[in-house]
Amino acid sequence: MQTPGPTNLPDRVLRAMDNNAINHRGPEFGRLGLTVVGKLRQVFGTTGVIGIFPSSGTGAWEAAMVNTLTTGDRILLVRTGQFAHLWEELARRHGLEVQTLDTDWRRGANPAEIGAALAADRNHQIKAVCVVHSETSTSCMTDIESVRAAIDRVRHPALLMVDAISSLACADYRHDQWGVDVTIAGSQKGLMVPPGLAFTAISEKALGVAARNKTQRSYWDWAPLVTSNETGFFPYTPAINLFYALNAALDMLLEEGLPNVFARHLRFAEATRRAVRTWGLELQCQDPKAYAPGVTAIRTPEGHSADRLRTIILDKFNMSLGNGLGPITDHVFRIGHMGDIGVLQMNGALSGVEMGLRAAGIPHHAGGVQAAMDYLAAGS
Ligand SMILES: Cc1ncc(COP(=O)(O)O)c(C=O)c1O
Repeated sequence: MQTPGPTNLPDRVLRAMDNNAINHRGPEFGRLGLTVVGKLRQVFGTTGVIGIFPSSGTGAWEAAMVNTLTTGDRILLVRTGQFAHLWEELARRHGLEVQTLDTDWRRGANPAEIGAALAADRNHQIKAVCVVHSETSTSCMTDIESVRAAIDRVRHPALLMVDAISSLACADYRHDQWGVDVTIAGSQKGLMVPPGLAFTAISEKALGVAARNKTQRSYWDWAPLVTSNETGFFPYTPAINLFYALNAALDMLLEEGLPNVFARHLRFAEATRRAVRTWGLELQCQDPKAYAPGVTAIRTPEGHSADRLRTIILDKFNMSLGNGLGPITDHVFRIGHMGDIGVLQMNGALSGVEMGLRAAGIPHHAGGVQAAMDYLAAGS
């Protein structure tokens, strides 16, 4: 598995799940719930509320919308790639008016453009700014700190909502320091947990907006999650075994040390790019400041199918790569290098790609794996 989520599960996480369920209303679960929230706060960089939903990341998107916004509200959303596009569609289904800013899917959101759009919104019709931190479809990051600065420069009161689904636990993230109001994440990527949990870090300001917001909601309501942060209990049956997994995965991340985890991801991303450059292939992300640490999207040369390459690599070497999404379907393949990955696995993945390029007859230069190895050996 070299997809950008779900990622490979460490043995320690698998073993942690291999236990009976416990009473989710009993004291042992209450302690587990509080422990997990405490550790998650460190990864999100917050001392505030962390909501946990038994759902995929999409559920946390929906929760963010129904808790803070109401039909007819306007949001500003930057279409950086397929996941931003899906978030936009979800918002429109909730009757929100979506003002969009477009990119060419080869860079992150432009903070200056966000600032200009907000400056033009003199009556403060825009209630939220939505950006994807790591756009998994393009492997481009958005600089969240600069987006916050752009919002503050024009003194706009909109909430800042960030999808950190494929960046959390791969890249440095600071919910509080960067002034993010809603951060959304999922279990199945950098956190090394099976799919099935969605997370939301929520600022005091966003909680205040939610308390005043009249939009009907029940399962996705944030209010019970605030209580959960105090008690460790949930209003419904939590995904108990996924909590075991999450607790073990968070221990692994904190034992390695978050700065080391981020450095490891940056190193693997750089090794991957060195291989890609040596092969003579093109990165989907054209802004070196925006390269994602957890995934690299690579373009195949014109006339050469990226999907066929992936099929050949799966058939011959039993390795799954991420596919191109939306308009870049079949033009792009993605190497996931997030989560539980070591140097040898990283090199193995690149070997699979290089052999696959050869088997698929895609024009390239040999030596990509060697270039990655030279880089990784020097830093090991
Ligand atoms: C950036 C981003 N946002 C949202 C999603 C959707 O999350 P989920 O599939 O967990 O609902 C994904 C999934 O890959 C993603 O990478």
